[in-house]
Amino acid sequence: MKNKPIVGCMRWGIWGANFTTKQYETIIDQCLSIDLNIFDHADIYGHYTTEADFGQAIKGKSSLRQQMKLITKCGINMLTPNRPAHAIKSYDTSAAHIKQSVENSLQNFHTDYIDTLLIHRPDLLLNPEEVAATIIELKGAGKIKSFGVSNFNTHQVATLQKHIKIEHHQVEISVTHMNAFDDGTLDQCQTIGIEAQSWSPMGNGIFTEDSEKNKRILATAKILSAKYETGVNEILLSFLYTHPANISPVIGTTQFERIISAKKAMEIQLTREDFYKLWQASAGHEVA
Ligand SMILES: NC(=O)c1ccc[n+]([C@@H]2O[C@H](COP(=O)([O-])OP(=O)(O)OC[C@H]3O[C@@H](n4cnc5c(N)ncnc54)[C@H](OP(=O)(O)O)[C@@H]3O)[C@@H](O)[C@H]2O)c1
Repeated sequence: MKNKPIVGCMRWGIWGANFTTKQYETIIDQCLSIDLNIFDHADIYGHYTTEADFGQAIKGKSSLRQQMKLITKCGINMLTPNRPAHAIKSYDTSAAHIKQSVENSLQNFHTDYIDTLLIHRPDLLLNPEEVAATIIELKGAGKIKSFGVSNFNTHQVATLQKHIKIEHHQVEISVTHMNAFDDGTLDQCQTIGIEAQSWSPMGNGIFTEDSEKNKRILATAKILSAKYETGVNEILLSFLYTHPANISPVIGTTQFERIISAKKAMEIQLTREDFYKLWQASAGHEVA
C-alpha cells in the first residue's frame, strides 16, 4: 500500500498563491474530498504568516480539524521584519524554542494538537538529550502526536535516534535531486522504520530552469507519459513511488487539478528500465 501524497502549503500564502481565507477553505475541502488529508507546514512559511492564514480557514471547525493531519516544523530562526529580534539567520533546537514554537503553531491553527512536529534543519548545536526530553514532554501533554526531522544527514539521525524515536524524515528527493537514493538516507529510513517524506518531489526548477539536465528529464518523462498514458507530473512522482522505501511525496502545487494528478501517480509502477531511464536523464550518464 503506497503512502498518499502529503499536501504542502508553503506556496499557499504570501510565498506563492496568496490565497484568501475563502480560497483556503475551498482547496482544503477539495483535498479532503479526494482523501488527501495531510497538510505540511512550517512556522517560517510566508515569513511566519502561512500557518495563521490556514488556521483562519479551519477556525472553530472541529470536525474539519479532526478529518485532517497537520505537520509543522520548527528550529529555523529566519531573518524577517516579522521577527525583529532575529539578528542573523540561525537554528535553535533548545527546549525553550521548541516549546514556544509549538505553542505558536497551536495558536495559529486554532487547535490543541499538532499531528507531526519536525525539526526543520539540523542545528549544529542540537543537544539530543534535550530534544528528546522536550518531545517526550510535548507528547505526554498531547500537544504533538508524532515526531521527526527534516534535512538531517544519516549521522545526525542516528545520534538523535539513540534518544528518541524518529518517525518521519522529510528530505528533498526527486528526479533532479537523487542524493537520498545512495547517500544512506533511504536505506536508513528502511532499516529503522522511518517514514521518508520527499519535498519538492517534482524536481526543483524543472519547470522554470531551461538547463540541459532539465530538458533531458522532461523529454524522457514525456516519452514515458505516452507509454503509461498519463501526464508528465504523474511520471515525475511515479519515479518516487517506484522506490521500495514507500516515499510520501510532499507536493507543492497550488492547483487542485495538479493535486488530483499527484494522487493518480500512486497507481503507476514504472518498470526498472523506465526508472533508470529517468535516473540516466538526470545524471547524464548510465549507471556504473
Ligand atoms: N522540509 C523542507 O525543508 C522543505 C523545503 C521545501 C518545501 N517543503 C515542503 O514541500 C512542499 C513541496 O515543495 P515544492 O512546492 O517545491 O514542490 P513541487 O511539488 O516539486 O513543486 C511545486 C511547484 O511546481 C509547479 N508545477 C508543478 N507542476 C507544474 C507544471 N506541470 N508546469 C509548471 N509548473 C508546475 C507548481 O506550480 P502550481 O502551483 O502552479 O501548480 C509549484 O510552483 C512545500 O509546500 C513544503 O510543504 C519542505
